[in-house]
Amino acid sequence: MHLHRYEKIWLSFGITSLIVFLAVLAFTAFAEGHTPPGGILTVSPESVDQVPPFNAPGVYDRGDYVDVYIVGQIFSYNPNRIELPLGKPVHFYVTTKDVVHSFTIIDTTVNMMLIPGYVNSATYTFEKPGSYLVLCNEYCGAGHQLMQMEVEVKG
Ligand code: CUA
Repeated sequence: MHLHRYEKIWLSFGITSLIVFLAVLAFTAFAEGHTPPGGILTVSPESVDQVPPFNAPGVYDRGDYVDVYIVGQIFSYNPNRIELPLGKPVHFYVTTKDVVHSFTIIDTTVNMMLIPGYVNSATYTFEKPGSYLVLCNEYCGAGHQLMQMEVEVKG
């Protein structure tokens, strides 16, 4: 098979680039110790109502911090309204019973996607008292725009 000179140059360039890119990728991955994400929490969407802690969703004050368990479903959150303390780290653990939703607390950095079978988590410390709106920003069906809850932060 005859290859034109430019074709050979172009092929060499392509193959060399590929080797360089893969080498850089491998080097950074090993040098910086990249690993697949670990510690993923799972829960069966069918039995979420029976499995602790999601059989009793709500707010749990642990002293130095607060744990919050919430279950999303079309088109609501359970519980629908919670009260949280000011200035204490709050760990949110949220899952969904049916389709993909989100748990987005307006005016905060909490914005999670809820995927059936998985528990997503986020930590946030409220520094301002008041009422915070929680919205679903993943389109989940005809009642998507009705899916919301309220977080009341009291000092
Ligand atoms: Cu749930 Cu949109």
